[in-house]
Amino acid sequence: MVEYQRIDGGGRTLALACDQAGEVRLVHFGPALPPNTNLADLDALQTSGPRESTPDAPPSARLVYPTDGFGWMGTPAVEGCFEDGLEAAIGWSSARTGLQDNTILIELVDNRLRLAVALSWRLDSDTGALVCSARITNNASQPFHLARVAAIHLPLPDWAGDIIAFDGDWAKEARPHRFRAPPGIWKQTDRTGRTGFRGSSFVVGDAGATFDQGRVIALHLGWSGPHTLAVETLPDGQRCASLGPRFAPGEVVIAPGSSRTTPNAYAFYSGEGLNTVSTHAHAYVRERLLPAASRLPRPVHLNTWEAVGFDVDEATLIELAGAAAAIGVERFVVDDGWFSGRANDGSALGDWRPDPTKFPNGLGPVIAAVQARGMSFGLWVEPEMVNPESDLYRRHPDWCVHAEGAARPTMRNQLWLDVSRPDVRDHIAGMLDSLLTTYPISYIKWDCNRFIFPAVSDGRPAAGAIVEGGLELMDSVRARHPAVEIEACASGGARVDFGLLSRAVRVWPSDSTDAVDRLRIQSWTGLLTPPEAMGAHVGASPNPITGRSAPMLFRARVSMFGHMGVELDPRKLPATDREMLARHIALYKQFRTLLHSGVRSTSVTTDGAVVWASCARDGVEQLVGVFRDDEAASLPSAPIRLRGLDPEARYSIELPPPWPEAARRRLTDAATWTSPRTFDGAVLLNAGLPLPVGDPLTAWLVHVRRV
Ligand code: GLA
Repeated sequence: MVEYQRIDGGGRTLALACDQAGEVRLVHFGPALPPNTNLADLDALQTSGPRESTPDAPPSARLVYPTDGFGWMGTPAVEGCFEDGLEAAIGWSSARTGLQDNTILIELVDNRLRLAVALSWRLDSDTGALVCSARITNNASQPFHLARVAAIHLPLPDWAGDIIAFDGDWAKEARPHRFRAPPGIWKQTDRTGRTGFRGSSFVVGDAGATFDQGRVIALHLGWSGPHTLAVETLPDGQRCASLGPRFAPGEVVIAPGSSRTTPNAYAFYSGEGLNTVSTHAHAYVRERLLPAASRLPRPVHLNTWEAVGFDVDEATLIELAGAAAAIGVERFVVDDGWFSGRANDGSALGDWRPDPTKFPNGLGPVIAAVQARGMSFGLWVEPEMVNPESDLYRRHPDWCVHAEGAARPTMRNQLWLDVSRPDVRDHIAGMLDSLLTTYPISYIKWDCNRFIFPAVSDGRPAAGAIVEGGLELMDSVRARHPAVEIEACASGGARVDFGLLSRAVRVWPSDSTDAVDRLRIQSWTGLLTPPEAMGAHVGASPNPITGRSAPMLFRARVSMFGHMGVELDPRKLPATDREMLARHIALYKQFRTLLHSGVRSTSVTTDGAVVWASCARDGVEQLVGVFRDDEAASLPSAPIRLRGLDPEARYSIELPPPWPEAARRRLTDAATWTSPRTFDGAVLLNAGLPLPVGDPLTAWLVHVRRV
């Protein structure tokens, strides 16, 4: 007997068919179906029988959790073997589905092997986010060695033949690559023990899909550990996507009577391009994930890293804090270099107490000075790490992740602490607790600058357990200090995922503060991450990492569209730049509520300008940023197509000053633009809005209000 289950939410429908003999098929994941849709008809239209050279009872290409016991020749969703080497050719003998809290619960059981999988497929009622996980239970008498388990195995529609995947490296995150799904498998594995510079997301969609049009499904694994993302095209052309944790051989052994649950995987469908994915994903992160400590308005930060590096001491920081407050900074974050014996990156990780030479009176005087200037105080830590050159390592040389008898290769001179061990976690939590109890610290930047290798604990492969231990450590700090905000950083953007965004108020998407790089990084990290959860700091010019120069106006405007901060020494800025930065900090404060609660979109004009817009949910107001890294091909430049306008309404358009230097010099009809102009929504929608000057490295703000 076949039973159909359907759930709706956020303008999306999920429908599954459950054949109690053991087959659960995807019937629909996409736009909302009419309430009375005949799901059996929809199922039948997608079902085909045996063909030449297929099993006589071919497994459906739409199975939500295929295994190889039935003649499924694609990659199985779950795979393993029993301890004594006995076969585990899993074939579901029964399937049951049920509904609970907008979730379809699926129970698949292999009676012969006594293995069971419980899938949870929830469609978020407001945002339409599909949230999936799998729990595998071993009811046999032998331990089961898990080789692979998908958090989601999603059969794909025929139109989803293009893949947008992301490449990345240090300071080069979020580089999109678009290609046709190859025959066989496209696969991306990360084994670094973090989400990885390439992230854990990809998109499948129509060949013509863009930010503004086309059908797309964005997929994401919400976990900061080793994982595999894949799209498989079977010989008959059917495709499926799968995302799940990745284990080393022997790493996961499920004892008799025990279970193992995957992290959550997410899928967002849009029929109108990537911007609608962002609308739904941002709403999901805002409403369901971001911790309570994440409060609006997001204060303007100054982070000391690119201002003074390791050279932090009481006098320097107090002076820097004065310069920061003078330009409007609201939170002063002391980065690396403050703890005992930390002169450079060669020592002291693990010794989380203030350096007695740099801070003879502890951190108290610096924090008092910061607070006296009206700012709150934040501090950098890297709790999962230890330098061999540290008191912690000297006292506990066996606390680092290592393989007995093997060398202990370092990365950035450091080792990973074995935080899968409760005693190690407790010790680090105790040190952090003492810091947070002694000092009024409102924010910690939690960094992670190494890969886990060799990923071994107590003689067993353990990357997943070490990652989980780090997350538990973070959770225990949060539980003891719920008001303290945490920023997740891993050499820049190597730890950006929904698992982290349920713990951290923001991520640091890249160590590159080069504003031209940031156009790409913030556009693509921002596909799923809302702007207020993305650190965006104004860096120096020339940029310390890329060497590229850019005017302050351009750098500051790129930062305004994330969680704005400053990553340079304001004391070293020419007065005109300092003034320009201060004006933009003020502009950010004026617009941040709109920027951080509105509907964010990205687009690229026909002549190459990147356009970011935040439109108030009621449509009455929007702030648009238009950024050019290169010269416009034509003048006036290609018109900006504003979204979210009502053709029947009238809008006032203003270009908030200051203006790009080129406009001030060259624009003869400046007067036309200096006071607000009003236009019909229909006209704006039809003609778009041309901007007066399109020089390289110019950035315009456009403030739109319904009148
Ligand atoms: C990493 C981070 C930087 C900075 C340094 C400090 O590289 O990504 O932002 O905090 O560590 O050592």
